[in-house]
Amino acid sequence: MLPASLKPAIRVLLLFFIFQVACLTMHAQSFVEFPASLENDSIIINKNIYGHFAEHLGHCIYGGFYVGDTNKSIPNIDGVREDVIAALRKLKIPVLRWPGGCFADTYHWKDGVGPKDKRPAIVNKWWGGVLEDNSFGTDNFLNMCELLGAEPYISGNVGSGTVQELADWVQYTNFEGRSPMSDLRNANGRNKPWHVKYWGIGNEAWGCGGNMRAEYYADIFRKYTTFMGSGLFRIGSGANSEDYNWTETMMKNVPASMIQGIGLHHYSVIDWNKKSSATGFTPQDYFITMQRAWKMEELVTRHSAIMDKYDPLKKVALVVDEWGGWYDVETGTNPGFLFQQNTMRDAMIAGVTLNIFNNHADRVRMANLAQTINVLQAVILTKGNEIILTPTYHVMEMYNVHQDATLIPLKIKSGDYTMGNEKLPAVSASASMKDKRIHISLVNIDATKSQELQLDLGKVSFSQVKGRILVSGKIQDCNTFENPTKVQPMAFSDIKISGQTIHLTMPPASVIMLELN
Ligand code: AHR
Repeated sequence: MLPASLKPAIRVLLLFFIFQVACLTMHAQSFVEFPASLENDSIIINKNIYGHFAEHLGHCIYGGFYVGDTNKSIPNIDGVREDVIAALRKLKIPVLRWPGGCFADTYHWKDGVGPKDKRPAIVNKWWGGVLEDNSFGTDNFLNMCELLGAEPYISGNVGSGTVQELADWVQYTNFEGRSPMSDLRNANGRNKPWHVKYWGIGNEAWGCGGNMRAEYYADIFRKYTTFMGSGLFRIGSGANSEDYNWTETMMKNVPASMIQGIGLHHYSVIDWNKKSSATGFTPQDYFITMQRAWKMEELVTRHSAIMDKYDPLKKVALVVDEWGGWYDVETGTNPGFLFQQNTMRDAMIAGVTLNIFNNHADRVRMANLAQTINVLQAVILTKGNEIILTPTYHVMEMYNVHQDATLIPLKIKSGDYTMGNEKLPAVSASASMKDKRIHISLVNIDATKSQELQLDLGKVSFSQVKGRILVSGKIQDCNTFENPTKVQPMAFSDIKISGQTIHLTMPPASVIMLELN
């Protein structure tokens, strides 16, 4: 039995102990360190890492980008929605991949040029079996890219097309002088060529693009590129996630002079047979999605290492031309249209993935989020004449300061985000410098714990730090047509500076962008 006078003291001690344990479980510590000097850094974060992807799938093109050039109820320029143009310009979208995806290997571009009433319709066999009337074709796409200020990236049809068809397409878009295809372009109302630089030689050649073996596709790639002409950036259909043999075979069998980029596709999907709801997901679902997103670090590292063996000077780019979260479609929507809501979970995928790409900018020089509007991890959702911007949009907008900036390599020591016996780094980060401004993007994926972050800036001199944060009450939070601004970036000023060290607390599931100048 304790003496009565000791009891209050013990109670205080006990409370203090409980408080300490609570603090430990609610916060964890992470450290980010700048290099000793910034002088040797010369890797540029190619702006094309912030690229997008628009397929003829569901309401990405029709209803998303394009509402028809006779539409009087939704403001548009030649059929392209004005609200979408304004939102994507703000995002500084650098490059747009089109027309697929799986659709690309069924697409015959001549069906989509010339007078609209003469264009044949086809069935979109991959996506919902709906009628594709070809009212949005090459001229529409390339003129739209001009409106957006984005470079076009055309995926050619290898699976069901011909070498001649692709060679003709290049001539139609790029040929300066007189030729059968530039005459056709002229007849269709466009005199000067668009000079399309980025060309994909088929899509997912290992799957919907023709179920080819890597050896066979490498030869096909060589054949198609031979007839396309020079001065183009030719991108080979790349590996499915961890199919390292695909990259090895392509690098071994295609001479570096014939290939400028090789693709890689990876989706953050829980289970292809049970993808789970985009909004009604559990903490476990969330953790697994984060595992899939972090997987990109391993994929990029290992595919790059294979490329390094054959191309040590890193001339060939790794082009991650499809990435993002993939869930069950929203109830009541066409399962072939891949329409899903977009929550703070998607903001976490975007933040982590873009940091990975930035940190591997020596090799990753283009990436295309799948997809821009109304499909998979979209940045915009449309309903009639309304649009909403998703949490992913806001991350892309916050991060666009990294475009074409010089990468600052960071040392990161992250606290753990744990679930059962599994753990992941809670914090991801990347930094860059441009026009004497430094930007640091930070993500805490932990759904329940804050991270106390110590940021050691080395010898960087700065006079001001500004911050923006994207955070919401729950990881399931999203923007809806009823509440379109529930999730949006806010100013973040809870930053403490002592000498060359910044201290801040990252709330659970948050993305922070700091600017130093
Ligand atoms: O983005 C949706 C589809 O996913 C694409 O059409 C295909 O390339 C991939 O399998």
